[in-house]
Amino acid sequence: MAEVSVFTHDAVLGAIPPSEAIERVRHGFVEHASGQWEMPPKTYLQAQPAGDFRAMPAKGGGIAILKWVTSFPGNPGAGLPVVMGAIFVSSLDKGELLAVVDVRAVTALRTGAVAAVAAQELAREDAASVGIVGCGLHGTWAARCLADAEYGPGVCFDPDPDAAGRLAGELGWEAGALDDALACDVVTCVTPGAEPVIRASDVRPGVHLNMLGADGPGKAEADADAVAACELFCDEWEQASHGGELTGAVEAGLVERANVTELGYVLTGAAGGRSGPRAATLFDSTGLAIQDLAICLGVLEAERDGRLRPETVRL
Ligand SMILES: NC(=O)c1ccc[n+]([C@@H]2O[C@H](COP(=O)([O-])OP(=O)(O)OC[C@H]3O[C@@H](n4cnc5c(N)ncnc54)[C@H](O)[C@@H]3O)[C@@H](O)[C@H]2O)c1
Repeated sequence: MAEVSVFTHDAVLGAIPPSEAIERVRHGFVEHASGQWEMPPKTYLQAQPAGDFRAMPAKGGGIAILKWVTSFPGNPGAGLPVVMGAIFVSSLDKGELLAVVDVRAVTALRTGAVAAVAAQELAREDAASVGIVGCGLHGTWAARCLADAEYGPGVCFDPDPDAAGRLAGELGWEAGALDDALACDVVTCVTPGAEPVIRASDVRPGVHLNMLGADGPGKAEADADAVAACELFCDEWEQASHGGELTGAVEAGLVERANVTELGYVLTGAAGGRSGPRAATLFDSTGLAIQDLAICLGVLEAERDGRLRPETVRL
């Protein structure tokens, strides 16, 4: 067995800046929508009441990956992250295992990056201010990537004032109330999805909503009427309609397939984006393996360029 490179959390974050993550994730959506990259459906393995495991394969760009990752919401209480696991990277031509990559760093980068890509494509052209609702790990990366894409300043809201204050302090933004965050041009929700934070009355003309927190069955950050009041976009219909922000509105009969556009098709130009400056747009991110693949390609390139020197193991 050949040597396998092991990329740690800090090595990945040190090698891929937000600007590169944004461009790579954008590229991944384009490749997938053009039929160049392939992604079978995500598989959930329930481990309730603790959480669930997800197995997420994808191939493209000369590699195949399998992401094996948790969402265990109660873990922080035990001093553990919600998201843990690894991404296994193999060569597409020979099937050799090339690398094992820390899942938290890749997930943080690709989740933050898609918030910026969706805002660039779907928000009003003059959109600037950012409202972050939920300033934990992935809310922080979404804010970092939006700031890197020159959105801001923003308002950070979290029931934990330390979380909101930390993020606001890092980016030079403000910590504020939920209503202040919801009044911004690009509202990005990254809560655990246990209760809606957006009602239909919060949906204002011209707003863009990035909904990142509801990434599995039973989670929602907006109520069904709020979802139905928006022009709808998602990362992938199957996931979004069964385990995403759209699910409640689909189940209530308020939204159907024809009402929702996948982001990749907007990026390739095969579908239109927002209809005009007064539309309210909503992007439902459930998290795709093509996003992880895009970041893993960056990690391998950093290794080839000598910017990243991983440890190796022989299995
Ligand atoms: N779409 C994706 O690709 C993707 C990727 C990773 C994680 N997620 C999901 O995002 C969610 C957040 O994950 P995380 O790792 O950032 O968790 P986290 O625990 O680090 O952060 C969650 C934050 O939300 C705050 N919060 C809780 N209730 C709130 C409310 N009503 N209003 C505002 N803030 C509230 C918490 O105080 C906490 O700071 C989870 O549901 C996770 O599964 C989605």
